[in-house]
Amino acid sequence: MLSKTMEEALNRQVNRELYSSYLYLGMSAWFESVNLKGFADWMMVQSGEERAHAMKLYEYIIARQGKVALDAIEAPRAKWTSAGKIFDEVYAHEQKVTGMINNLVDLAIKEKDHATFEMLQWFVKEQVEEEANAALIVDKIKTVGDIPGHLLCLDHELSKRK
Ligand code: FEO
Repeated sequence: MLSKTMEEALNRQVNRELYSSYLYLGMSAWFESVNLKGFADWMMVQSGEERAHAMKLYEYIIARQGKVALDAIEAPRAKWTSAGKIFDEVYAHEQKVTGMINNLVDLAIKEKDHATFEMLQWFVKEQVEEEANAALIVDKIKTVGDIPGHLLCLDHELSKRK
């Protein structure tokens, strides 16, 4: 069984993963509005992955006889000015999420909660990938130039994400 402290911390992370899903959905909508459909697709897939992260934690809480407590999801911003600025924000956001996951791992260690520690290792590895994916696109946008006309090749490449 989960401790109350761990249950609350995991529920908070469910909320933050759902916020991430919402944030990336908003970014997808912005890319749609400027006709960068490949970027929009990439963000839509990312939004789905974040929901899957939330569900992984949700199912774990239930498996450990914890209680899921869903809270209001913060509204993400709706307007951005460029693809480059969006991906800078994605990278910064993922670094923040990595910090949250690390804090959960620290709590699991403090509480000697081996099952939660083990479950969180999936997230530790996932965050390495999440940061690397965002950093790569930040670099690519810098290379081609953060101007819609220059981003069409990258838009085509990003549309291939499944
Ligand atoms: Fe759920 Fe992008 O970290």
